Amino acid sequence: ENIPLELHKVRIVQKLHLVPIERRLEALYEGGFNTFQLNTTDVFLDMLTDSGTNAMSDKQLSAMMIADDAYAGSQSFIRLQKAVDDVLGKKYLLPVHQGRAAEHILGVAYVKKGSMVPMNYHFTTALAHITECGGQISELLYPEAYKIDSDHPFKGNMNIEALEECIQKHGKDNIPYIRMEASTNLIGGQPFSVQNMRDVRAIADKYGIRLVLDASLLGENAYLVKQREAEFQDKSMAEILLTFTGMADIIYFSARKLSSSRGGGICTNDIKVYKELEALVPLFEGFLTYGGISIREVEAMAVGLYETLDETMISQSPSFIKYLVEEAKKLGIPMITPPGVLGAHVDAMSFCSHIPQTQYPAGALAAAFFLISGVRGMERGSVSNQRDENGNETYADMELLRLAVPRRVFTLSQVKYVIDRLKWLYDNREMIGGLKFYYEPSVLRFFMGKLEPT
Ligand code: F0G
Repeated sequence: ENIPLELHKVRIVQKLHLVPIERRLEALYEGGFNTFQLNTTDVFLDMLTDSGTNAMSDKQLSAMMIADDAYAGSQSFIRLQKAVDDVLGKKYLLPVHQGRAAEHILGVAYVKKGSMVPMNYHFTTALAHITECGGQISELLYPEAYKIDSDHPFKGNMNIEALEECIQKHGKDNIPYIRMEASTNLIGGQPFSVQNMRDVRAIADKYGIRLVLDASLLGENAYLVKQREAEFQDKSMAEILLTFTGMADIIYFSARKLSSSRGGGICTNDIKVYKELEALVPLFEGFLTYGGISIREVEAMAVGLYETLDETMISQSPSFIKYLVEEAKKLGIPMITPPGVLGAHVDAMSFCSHIPQTQYPAGALAAAFFLISGVRGMERGSVSNQRDENGNETYADMELLRLAVPRRVFTLSQVKYVIDRLKWLYDNREMIGGLKFYYEPSVLRFFMGKLEPT
């Protein structure tokens, strides 16, 4: 057995509960078969997300005690600025309360009616903010990215020919920026290569278009580059990260992922960009030296950014995910391969091949898996999609149940429990039924929506 080993020890723990299945069934009805609507008192293993749920280090917690609480001019912010410069290589930092706030500000500043934003793939909140500002997106992955079972090391790569075609079709003046998302979340946490970003950079230069990097999952993307891209196998995490960030004009991130804290940021070396965005931070977020984040979290964010450089830390979640995916595959369970980051992704389209996409197979699988295991995953399929401008349903390219593996939170025996329960459900998969909405909000419906069995 290829057992992943942790280079940390657990010193603070939180008690978990495994409530009876009858209670879990009640909880599903109360929450509209939507795992976002469950209470943690009903959840055994919370694999909803890694966002804000990664374990923090002793150094992060101790840094929080020396926070310099000031409305303006806080020294905590100066320390964060230095961390961003050291780790991401960008001098100018605009703090925001979380990743989507950065997407909001970039949208307000750069996206207008008729804008087209080419990207490797959308993330829910990134898409919502662009469409909210009147823009549209083009998703430009290679066909390999949509294959469930693959050994392609970089399914998150941007299709370079398609990018150039997209620019020629829409005109460079209608393209405010090109967006690259590290460890492409919604196709199973799949990375792109340094070489691919070099190719994207060359196109951006050719047409004079800015390149924006969503760095929320950049640490893991860089770790997988070290594992999978020959040129970088002997490079340090620091070198790989700076190679990536050096190619971006603007970087934004959710610190809830990138540095295991709260908050987020937009950073750049371009003073013009900084000036274009500066006024929006006090307007929407908070003053420029806290951006709506508590100062304690600003300290934790700075320490967390440096910890991203530690391979023994950043490898923990991907190595547990690899174990989970490979063991589940051995049992015949359809999983996204190669194993990516953030979580293990179960292919609900195949797992629940008897449920049509109109009845949300991934949502149905998420609910059923919670019922039989107490494990809370997240639907990443058509429920997470948004309707088109005419109000028609748009079906997702992939119907996934995401089982997030936040960093340094779960033990291997808990992961083995997940595999065991997945196997049981797979053997009894005909018992899973489809779902339909009875309450469907118009924006980001997957958060608050409520469904019931068809
Ligand atoms: N970009 C990516 C790639 C993300 O994964 C997320 C959040 C965001 C932006 C938005 O950041 O949540 O701080 O506002 N992903 C979380 C998830 C919510 O569960 O995958 P945020």
